[in-house]
Amino acid sequence: MKAALDKNYWDSRYQEGSTGWDLGGVSPALKAYIDQLEDKTQKILIPGGGNAYELAYLHENGFTNSYLIDLSPTALANFKKNNPSIDERYLIEGNYFELEDQFDLIVEQTFFCAIDRNLRKQYAEKTHQLLNPDGKLVGLLWSEDFGVDAPPFGGTREEYIGYFNELFEVRTMEESYNSIKPRSGRELFIILQK
Ligand SMILES: C[S@@+](CC[C@H](N)C(=O)[O-])C[C@H]1O[C@@H](n2cnc3c(N)ncnc32)[C@H](O)[C@@H]1O
Repeated sequence: MKAALDKNYWDSRYQEGSTGWDLGGVSPALKAYIDQLEDKTQKILIPGGGNAYELAYLHENGFTNSYLIDLSPTALANFKKNNPSIDERYLIEGNYFELEDQFDLIVEQTFFCAIDRNLRKQYAEKTHQLLNPDGKLVGLLWSEDFGVDAPPFGGTREEYIGYFNELFEVRTMEESYNSIKPRSGRELFIILQK
């Protein structure tokens, strides 16, 4: 039977240390994007952030209006332990699809591929709803389909365009040139403007 991809599922993964997706540091593609941002007051969200090295990087670099949301209390506890100087108010424990707030930038990394495939359209709609009128969704999506019924669920550019096209201007959805080696040639870098 297919596992429900709920709070228990994800929290157990962190408790067991079964976190093969975790890069152990800031993703180079996201670091490069963050490094060229000028407005440090913008409100940023990392959904399904997990160990959220990017959130720590944002705060260290003066982007102090940055948040993460994750279902897993263990992931959040790990983040707090590893980043004691970051105030807890920036860590939201909860379901992305139930969040009510507004952001200027939402940063995607292995969250879209972790949710059930039938929630993809809802992800596009929820992300659109959570963004300010000029807001952007920026990050990485797999560019291949893994053909298995468990996360990570991959996909194709054509499929993604189908979810986002009506709600966003697709500024960039191209092969990422600075992915980590094991993901090289297998990821799209996206910049979607509301
Ligand atoms: C594959 S992990 C990726 C974690 C992190 N982005 C990274 O790259 O290391 C997916 C994350 O999404 C979280 N998650 C899954 N469904 C969620 C939901 N509906 N709302 C918030 N977080 C969710 C999980 O707890 C997990 O931390």
